[in-house]
Amino acid sequence: MTLSRVATVVADPGSVDAAIASRFSCRAFLRDRPVPRATIEDILALASRAPSGTNTQPWKVYVLQGAARDALVEKACAAHDAMYADPALAQEYREEYDYYPTRWVSPYIDRRRENGWGLYGLLGIAKGEKDRMHAQHQRNFRFFDAPVGLMFTMDRVLGRGSLMDYGMFLENVMLAARARGLHTCPQAAWNGFAKIILPHVGAGEDEMLLCGMSLGYADLDAHVNTFDTPREPAASFTRWVE
Ligand SMILES: Cc1cc2nc3c(=O)[nH]c(=O)nc-3n(C[C@H](O)[C@H](O)[C@H](O)COP(=O)(O)O)c2cc1C
Repeated sequence: MTLSRVATVVADPGSVDAAIASRFSCRAFLRDRPVPRATIEDILALASRAPSGTNTQPWKVYVLQGAARDALVEKACAAHDAMYADPALAQEYREEYDYYPTRWVSPYIDRRRENGWGLYGLLGIAKGEKDRMHAQHQRNFRFFDAPVGLMFTMDRVLGRGSLMDYGMFLENVMLAARARGLHTCPQAAWNGFAKIILPHVGAGEDEMLLCGMSLGYADLDAHVNTFDTPREPAASFTRWVE
């Protein structure tokens, strides 16, 4: 590394803050506005500057566009519909790792409920409207109409610490996207469909699906994109030990 890199001054700190503050989980994209391959390459190259324990760089990324994207969408939506018709099929589509807790407790369950019902409420979907909830959930498997779908895997042999590294990489992807006028939605919804996705993208059996992500230009007219998520004040999760 050159010392000039050490001396780099972030000339416009406000734009870093703006990238962080303006990132949100976008759930409606412009289907017909493509993302140039060079832009995706730039995003991934920059994201790979993320730190990782002993520089292990655990990330593996599959970029789906065009026919490959569309074919995966059709397979996943068919599986999702089949599971809706026959809930017993859920046994076949197990997540490879517990992204969510197996036992929900407060305050996390409260935040989860607030998030879920907040989104459905915004869309006018009432409790009990199962078909509409299913349809909205299925938007995940259409990448919310984003032209680019990303799938992230990690070698199974790696440890839990690599998940921390991976999270930093994912945030970098989302922030680098923001810097280029793009939006994203990270998606654990895909995780249950690993056995469809991994062969589809040509991933090896030694790889574990961590999540998917939609990438594209936001639909600025979509009501769903007005969904606002609160945060606890920093003072509530910070203890000053002096
Ligand atoms: C790893 C990860 C997986 C997620 N999976 C989904 C998903 O499958 N579908 C979805 O609509 N949102 C998903 N989200 C988005 C969260 O609901 C969202 O980050 C949270 O509610 C905060 O909102 P914000 O991202 O708009 O700030 C996921 C977020 C993360 C970090």
